[in-house]
Amino acid sequence: MEIDFKDLNPKQIYKLMTSVIVPRPIAWISTVSAEGINNLAPFSYFAGVSSDPPLLIVSIGSKSETVKKDTWKNIEETGEFVVNMVTRDVLEEMNITSIPFDEEIDEFEKAGLTPVSSKYVKAPRVKESPVNIECKKYEIIQIGKMGLILGEVLTVHVRDDILNEKGYVDTTKLEIIGRLGGANYCLITKENSFEMKRPDKE
Ligand SMILES: Cc1cc2nc3c(=O)[nH]c(=O)nc-3n(C[C@H](O)[C@H](O)[C@H](O)COP(=O)(O)O)c2cc1C
Repeated sequence: MEIDFKDLNPKQIYKLMTSVIVPRPIAWISTVSAEGINNLAPFSYFAGVSSDPPLLIVSIGSKSETVKKDTWKNIEETGEFVVNMVTRDVLEEMNITSIPFDEEIDEFEKAGLTPVSSKYVKAPRVKESPVNIECKKYEIIQIGKMGLILGEVLTVHVRDDILNEKGYVDTTKLEIIGRLGGANYCLITKENSFEMKRPDKE
């Protein structure tokens, strides 16, 4: 079966895109507004896209035709954010922070999470997340109601117990959550991870 995008409306396209491009990591983004209110929300249109310079990208939508989601607005106004990775332990909290609260509401408080100071940016890190990536705005490309936010990574905080004996981050110790289509998720564990070396050129 072939599904031609010219026959689909935006809602159907969203459903199809997010069902076939899987699994997606979740950028759990903390920001602080120009007024000083903490904000936290998850975004799975998210990827690391360059190492030199170190860049990641997140695609954030709008609340209405003219009103950007709080995370986009805050990054635009302050130029700073933190991407916190989502693990099994904080799954419920992540879900709470996806509720479209008003911008005066601090989602850290709503979800019972602990904000801790970052090194380079004003936006706080989520203490309960084992990986926090401090970023500054590199560029925002607005396409229709979407904001494609390119962030430059300034520093990464990793919890000590997820490092292996060589000092590398061991992903299988993290139990990171991935987003699938609809309300489905997947989990990275030691059991469902495997190694495959690249073949040598003959
Ligand atoms: C797992 C998950 C992934 C999401 N991914 C996105 C996304 O990539 N882009 C987006 O605009 N909204 C996404 N959302 C919805 C936002 O989290 C939601 O609109 C949130 O209220 C935005 O908060 P803010 O206004 O504080 O920025 C996602 C929600 C969940 C639960």
